[in-house]
Amino acid sequence: MSFGIEADRIFKSFGEPPQVVLQDVSLNIKEGNFVALTGKSGSGKSTLLYIVSGLDNPTSGDVKLSGKSLQQMDSKELHALRNLSIGFVFQFHYLLPELTGLENITMPARKTGTHKQVEDYALHLMESFGVSHCKDKFPSQMSGGEGQRVAIARALVQKPKFLFADEPTGNLDTTNGDKVMEIFRRINKEDGTTILFVTHDPDYAAIAEQRIHMIDGKIAEIS
Ligand SMILES: Nc1ncnc2c1ncn2[C@@H]1O[C@H](COP(=O)(O)OP(=O)(O)OP(=O)(O)O)[C@@H](O)[C@H]1O
Ligand SMILES: [Mg+2]
Repeated sequence: MSFGIEADRIFKSFGEPPQVVLQDVSLNIKEGNFVALTGKSGSGKSTLLYIVSGLDNPTSGDVKLSGKSLQQMDSKELHALRNLSIGFVFQFHYLLPELTGLENITMPARKTGTHKQVEDYALHLMESFGVSHCKDKFPSQMSGGEGQRVAIARALVQKPKFLFADEPTGNLDTTNGDKVMEIFRRINKEDGTTILFVTHDPDYAAIAEQRIHMIDGKIAEIS
């Protein structure tokens, strides 16, 4: 039995009086699975993604990646896991403004792999995503969609075991959105990357092997 992402009875609330945003969420995503997370705005998708990727802590409950509890890791272990095994694409890309497209992509891998290997793979990803022309551009010189594709390349440059993507196609036109989904599917098949992505697009949700639908902070349906 190979474990992927396991969440057990996750609760999350914000503020005082507490606003309960996730309510008793449990899920089990097998290693190598390709899963879409859907639901209306405010249903808790981003919050859940942050928690299962170790970017935020649940108020209660436990998350395991590859069978290891995130809540029981010390900050050094968690940092190493996040740096090497987890790729994250934010809903709004956060590229570093003072670095070029290529520098932003190779940045997470500065300490691993040879510079040449990493740079070759980064350039390959840029070409696959149609953003080779952004290699020497700074984020302020890119369109929203170009920046998003550079951010996706950055999340993939270390060939992470897990990829979490929060509306990766949200800023893209159909052609480029389709391209990103094709690459996700290829990476899932070829590298066995476990992928959990948020989408509002039913066509993209249909490409996934499994769909998790959220309503008001709860899992309403898994199909
Ligand atoms: N840091 C925070 N502090 C307070 N409330 C928050 C915080 N983060 C999220 N929330 C609240 O939690 C709820 C769920 O937010 P979340 O961002 O997870 O929704 P979402 O499903 O990703 O929505 P969208 O589709 O609009 O991105 C919302 O009501 C939001 O206002
Ligand atoms: Mg969101």
